[in-house]
Amino acid sequence: MGITPSTRTATSQARFELPGDHPGFSDDAYRARRAAIAEVGRRHRRGGPIADVEYTAEEDGVWRLVSHELGRKHQVYACEAYLAGAAALTLPTERVPQLREVDERVHALSGFHIEPVPGLVPTREFYGSLAERVFRSTQYIRHHSVPFYTPEPDIVHEIIGHANMLANPAVADLYELAGRASLRAESDAALDFFSKVFWFTLEFGVVWERGELRAYGAGLLSSYGEIEEFRDAELRPWDIRRMGTLDYDITRYQPVLFAAESFERMVDDLGTFFAGYDDDDHARRVGTGRR
Ligand SMILES: [Fe+2]
Repeated sequence: MGITPSTRTATSQARFELPGDHPGFSDDAYRARRAAIAEVGRRHRRGGPIADVEYTAEEDGVWRLVSHELGRKHQVYACEAYLAGAAALTLPTERVPQLREVDERVHALSGFHIEPVPGLVPTREFYGSLAERVFRSTQYIRHHSVPFYTPEPDIVHEIIGHANMLANPAVADLYELAGRASLRAESDAALDFFSKVFWFTLEFGVVWERGELRAYGAGLLSSYGEIEEFRDAELRPWDIRRMGTLDYDITRYQPVLFAAESFERMVDDLGTFFAGYDDDDHARRVGTGRR
């Protein structure tokens, strides 16, 4: 069972909430599609079968365009682990993949599950699910008028950015460790520090490989524009404390990135941080703990 394009008619009254500056704000058909696709995520029950969404030709076209263009750029800018993960996962490039099939393939490769959600998930819920090796993913796609831009995480970001990384077992373990760390970060301050480290690594991390800077962060890997610009960012050496205390602006290209010496080093250092993180560790790291 799935949501079909004809649902557009049935739900054309639906006005999916979008901010006034969203590219799809004044497109009623797009907002109806967003509402219909969100409904599939809303009906999903944890661990249950994942219903298909019957994407429109327009939506498939956006996926085709973006995945072809990003695929070319990944050869130049993505880290080896990403390219290997993408090769193993072999996502369709001509149509939007179903989360059902992405979930099956990722799970076979690394034991991680992909589950649909209607829209953005509260921070603690999203991170907490990672502890159970579940990545909660949106299913809608960006507006066709600006195929290379999205103001919010869409299926391009979730699947091209995150799922291809999650196909790698070492990375999947890292996401699980991150989830467990988030559960131990009980204070808001500790969660904020954790979120910033997550941002500067699993979302916007870069790594040196054979003398070149390559991306392993999903935010870079899924951004058509930013993936070409990140080598111009101000590079800082790996430093968890600085990552966890640096503010970022999600609406612009990241001006500061932290570079890991190698992929293996990143997995080790980040895994060690996540594994030992809790409220006390946070206090020690920011210097407010008892001595
Ligand atoms: Fe993300």
